[in-house]
Amino acid sequence: MENILITGGAGYVGSHITLNILKRGLKVIVLDSFVNSSKDVFNNFCKVIDKKILKRNFKIITGDIRDRKLLNDIFEDNAKRECAISSVIHCAGLKSVQTSIINPKEYWDVNVLGTMNLVDIMESYSCKKIIFSSSATVYDPSEGDLLHENSRISPINPYGSTKFVVEKFLEDIHKSSKNEWKCINLRYFNPIGADPEGIIGESPLKEKNNIFPLIMDVASKKLEKFTIFGNDWDSSDGTCVRDYIHIDDLAESHIRALEYLNNNTPVFMNLNVGTGEGTSVLELIKKFEETNQISIPFIYGERRKGDFGTVVADNRLAKKVLAWIPKKDLKDMCKDGWNWFSNTII
Ligand SMILES: NC(=O)c1ccc[n+]([C@@H]2O[C@H](COP(=O)([O-])OP(=O)(O)OC[C@H]3O[C@@H](n4cnc5c(N)ncnc54)[C@H](O)[C@@H]3O)[C@@H](O)[C@H]2O)c1
Repeated sequence: MENILITGGAGYVGSHITLNILKRGLKVIVLDSFVNSSKDVFNNFCKVIDKKILKRNFKIITGDIRDRKLLNDIFEDNAKRECAISSVIHCAGLKSVQTSIINPKEYWDVNVLGTMNLVDIMESYSCKKIIFSSSATVYDPSEGDLLHENSRISPINPYGSTKFVVEKFLEDIHKSSKNEWKCINLRYFNPIGADPEGIIGESPLKEKNNIFPLIMDVASKKLEKFTIFGNDWDSSDGTCVRDYIHIDDLAESHIRALEYLNNNTPVFMNLNVGTGEGTSVLELIKKFEETNQISIPFIYGERRKGDFGTVVADNRLAKKVLAWIPKKDLKDMCKDGWNWFSNTII
């Protein structure tokens, strides 16, 4: 049976992938330092997965991807028990653009050196399948066109640089042994929402940078008003346009990517994971209000430095290669996100 290591598997993205993979009956080991997540995220897994199956197929390890000894022990232990780790879904990392500008060394250390460590240990145990959580921040979206995988790459902050460097590193690793390494970099656009059963959602321990947790803080009256950064962008209502994708569709893309790697010869690929549809911040707020019948008071603030007006994916390659289609719409994202938040967090 496949035994999959998910680094950062307790985080927002990783926990949704973990749940989806466990539901399919595969084995998962989560390695997470819990710097931005809590073990509590797994508490409700037993509501949707049989406890015996969880006990057999699911393991949580607390630790850092920069800890070589720990990584080695994890691979060694599983190899000895004849359930060698077959693939890695690498979500662990730091993700705040703002903090990366203040503390670039930490970002390069965790995101880049952490990945180099991981890949090195993977190689020594002949585990050569990796799916990496990359990001649309690698692109230069200044033209406002749909971004396809060959669009201009030009990260403008340390976070984006670390994503790009890791992508290149994996490409070099693949090139160095083309008949062995299978690598897919999934470039996420803007995942929002929560799993439809309300088991898990987005609850970062560190500062909230993503839009959706902030909208939900306003919805729950924890925050008085939501700030929209800029209303003079080149869009129908002047607010920024982003490509929001339901977290469940994003998680599904990993499962398809894993299947693809299992069934194909070694490959290196970058794939955009978005819906291909742009939504302005104002439209998202209106949709949230209409779907959940809650008012979201907002104010307009200044444009943020380094922001772009429109960031939307050309997702045709991922759809074709992975036979994957994002199924959920903006209403599902708003409904599922609030359903989880209002039942779990408030
Ligand atoms: N959420 C998004 O909008 C988005 C968009 C593009 C790319 N990504 C990337 O996807 C990945 C997951 O993002 P997320 O939104 O789930 O973030 P998250 O912070 O919720 O999850 C990351 C997880 O990694 C863990 N972690 C951090 N440093 C670690 C270390 N050194 N060793 C082990 N674990 C560590 C954290 O505790 C956390 O559980 C990240 O690499 C992020 O850069 C996210």
